[in-house]
Amino acid sequence: MSIGIFDSGIGGLTVFKSIAENFPDLDIYYLGDTARVPYGNKSKDTIIRYSVECAGYLVNKYNIEALVVACNTASSYSLDILKKRFNIPVLGVIVPGAKNALKKSKNKKIGVIGTYGTIGSNSYLNTLKTISDDDVQIYQKPCPLFVPLVEEGMVDSHITKMVVKEYLDELVEKGIDTLILGCTHYPVLKDVIKELYPELNIVDSSEVIIEDLKNLDINFNENGIRHIFITDESPSFHTLKNLLVGNVKTEKIELSDICSL
Ligand code: DGL
Repeated sequence: MSIGIFDSGIGGLTVFKSIAENFPDLDIYYLGDTARVPYGNKSKDTIIRYSVECAGYLVNKYNIEALVVACNTASSYSLDILKKRFNIPVLGVIVPGAKNALKKSKNKKIGVIGTYGTIGSNSYLNTLKTISDDDVQIYQKPCPLFVPLVEEGMVDSHITKMVVKEYLDELVEKGIDTLILGCTHYPVLKDVIKELYPELNIVDSSEVIIEDLKNLDINFNENGIRHIFITDESPSFHTLKNLLVGNVKTEKIELSDICSL
């Protein structure tokens, strides 16, 4: 028995890494839908269909006991549907991220960055407003250039710093004291963001999901298996994979494998 994690691509390996470090013996199956990434600019219906297919693959093939939807875009649109469809705990990143932001923010001015899909869904905004007792001010911004920069391994180049400033100066000028990194790729840029804005509290979904997993009342049968599946092998895949998780067994599967289950 095991847990499954899925993401639109390889950015979710930030979540895989964090879970693997916190649960060294847990069996973890990760599916990165690299053939169909990005999800962040797809329609709601397409994101839901892809999410159901990815979850179905891990549930049907590996009997996972819990599912982590690492992808913020998929979490924004598909979480309720996945919870209804699959009879296991399904954890997303939006609620734990929002809770963590409220805990960290003193002035209750919170920035949210993510894909067009995540920002357009208002998932963080609605969650923050629902769970906060205070009058919280939320400033959102899609940062579409972050994903290709990370995929290219341009983690701390001067171009990356310029793009970070281009996107984030505006939010910081609004007075935010906390920033939610609402995309699986963005934690890779955390050090650059911290260097440019040292005062900012950063919310990283790869960290906040850990508490929710610890709270699951499950007796995992653990062998420490780690397995990464991808639906396509892009040129940047191995660079980023090695940077994030090192030498974990990886297997390319066919899209038809996940669409037919
Ligand atoms: N994994 C996606 C997310 O966290 C980012 C990449 C994409 O657009 O698919 O929203």
